[in-house]
Amino acid sequence: MILKVARLGFPTLRVASQPVPRDVIRTHDFQKLIDDMVETMHEYSGVGVAAPQVHLPIQLAVLEVENHPRYPDMPPVPLTVLINPVVTVLDQEKVEDWEGCLSIPDLRGSVPRFKKLRVEALDREANELEIEASDFHARVIQHETDHLKGDVYLDRMPDLRSLAFLPELQRFVLSNQ
Ligand code: NI
Repeated sequence: MILKVARLGFPTLRVASQPVPRDVIRTHDFQKLIDDMVETMHEYSGVGVAAPQVHLPIQLAVLEVENHPRYPDMPPVPLTVLINPVVTVLDQEKVEDWEGCLSIPDLRGSVPRFKKLRVEALDREANELEIEASDFHARVIQHETDHLKGDVYLDRMPDLRSLAFLPELQRFVLSNQ
């Protein structure tokens, strides 16, 4: 089932989400929620969806980058379910790149993100998961785990003047690079 995506202003996008109790993960309802979030991510061509974006303040996010129309040059990231994720930064170096968010439609902004990190979480079988990620993969993880803290990419922008609507960004900025 495709879920409605909350837009900026909806309260769950601005609160710290609650951890998911481990024994809840394998329940039918929770598995259905994960499936619905994946379906929603695909429907809206997102590279990730966090539970606060579907109106639930819980620490759950899904992400996937596979033949993505908006990011054709990016290395693929397999479908990943992150529950109660904890991020450790492995490289303090930051890289700037463009980001958007399904909860902030049509806009893109240039956001510095840590280049390399490790994330520890539970997967959809409630097993412990540890992933090291760098570059775009690390960016997607930072974006989605920020949602679980009540943060959006706008909060990470040192200069809001790069903010642009996608068609204008493509026409006036990216085409000149
Ligand atoms: Ni987002």
